[in-house]
Amino acid sequence: MVDFHSHILPEIDDGAETPEISAAMLAESYNQGVEKIVATPHFYPGRDTPQRFLARREKAIEKLQEIYDPIRSPAVYAGAEVAFFTGLSRSEAMTELCVVGTRYMLIEMPASRWSDKTVEEILSIENNLSIKPIVAHIERYIFLQEKGTLEHLVNSGVLIQSNADFFCAFRSRRKAIRMLEQEKIHLIGSDCHNMTTRAPNMAKADESISSRLNPFCMERIIGISEKVLERARPILKSVVSDK
Ligand SMILES: [Fe+2]
Repeated sequence: MVDFHSHILPEIDDGAETPEISAAMLAESYNQGVEKIVATPHFYPGRDTPQRFLARREKAIEKLQEIYDPIRSPAVYAGAEVAFFTGLSRSEAMTELCVVGTRYMLIEMPASRWSDKTVEEILSIENNLSIKPIVAHIERYIFLQEKGTLEHLVNSGVLIQSNADFFCAFRSRRKAIRMLEQEKIHLIGSDCHNMTTRAPNMAKADESISSRLNPFCMERIIGISEKVLERARPILKSVVSDK
């Protein structure tokens, strides 16, 4: 499995508070069958610049490197969870925040009804910057959108990520499965932040999907994740992903 959304890097955002917690999150992910995990610390354009963010991310990676166990951890890739802002599609500097080695960027959208301008901005990212946008945890805001917005994004080539929780919670899992069947979800992430309140939970989503759908659906998700990471370079290499 590939976990496409996580806050495992230490001391950079509201995720792992120490390198030890990061290591525990990685070990837990590995035990759940995660072979690759993308570290996506929050990037807030109002209070940060890509340069400052990258310097902080580099430091966090160094701290994790010191205690990283390549035998019992997934391979780690670096990216960012970029908070949407007007002008994103014209900001060349933002290309630095794609998953390292790729032209894919995870974007956290506003938790409100998106205007036509907002939708247009998302669609312009690929045209202007040659970056494929990935909308993060779609379940947070899909119920706020006009009918047809999601279909419009998907038909235009935008990738959609949902959190593992969406597939596990009793009140949402039927909708999650339906969206997966309709190919409106392309990538899954744990969005894990710690080992307590928001712990790694990819196995639960896998179980929920496998018990309701034929294995082909999970395979499709894995296939898309692999394609996204095709040219990516792991920042920390593990034994399991090298096999
Ligand atoms: Fe997140």
